[in-house]
Amino acid sequence: MNVEAQKRAAATRAVEFVRPGMRLGLGTGSTAKHFVELVGERVRAGLDIIAVPTSEATRADAERYGIPLTTLDETPELDVTVDGADEIGPGLTLIKGGGGALLREKIVAAASGRMIVIADESKAVETLGRFPLPIEIAPFGYGATEKAIHSAIAGLQSPGPLPLRRTKDGHAFVTDGGHWIIDAALGRIDDPAALARALAAVPGVMEHGLFVGIAQMAIVAGPDGVRIVE
Ligand code: 5RP
Repeated sequence: MNVEAQKRAAATRAVEFVRPGMRLGLGTGSTAKHFVELVGERVRAGLDIIAVPTSEATRADAERYGIPLTTLDETPELDVTVDGADEIGPGLTLIKGGGGALLREKIVAAASGRMIVIADESKAVETLGRFPLPIEIAPFGYGATEKAIHSAIAGLQSPGPLPLRRTKDGHAFVTDGGHWIIDAALGRIDDPAALARALAAVPGVMEHGLFVGIAQMAIVAGPDGVRIVE
């Protein structure tokens, strides 16, 4: 199986956990896109579910596939969220936010009874941090926020170079919530839970891409098949 087939295989397995009447969170990214498409197929075949998308991109896909959508205002508790990840570490700690949707992804996952991560094998790592950690910040005062983030990281471990502001087409990348993203190339994250707490305490940080204690299951597809991590 190539990587795209692995993503599809993980998404296909995740659909088996969807039951009639469920309230679903729909993740963002190329792996979650497969899941959204597969859920759309089942909806068109008569499956009765409602869903909350974690990004405008996923909303557009879900609408195209005919998936009935709701919001967390109307439906504040969801049954399951299925989403991708940039890294899956020990204890189902995650790095997310490669697609810039981390704030909504975390809100939706936290409102869900269960979060199932779907990924190809390349995302499973022994130590988080090779993928630069996305941190969503308010544009106001970003220079001070970036400096405070660097200090917060340095209080715990080697902070690496100053985090890079993410750009798109030569301009600041703007999230669905109107914020910016900086990517912190840390190499390794020694204590994800401590770093998560330290980053959350920095004023101007809207959310960071460390998901600690949020996911309950990962469906990881490799060249030889699918395995479940719980
Ligand atoms: C978006 C995310 C994605 O889930 C993550 O980037 C993985 O994406 P992909 O499945 O395309 O590799 O966190 O913010």
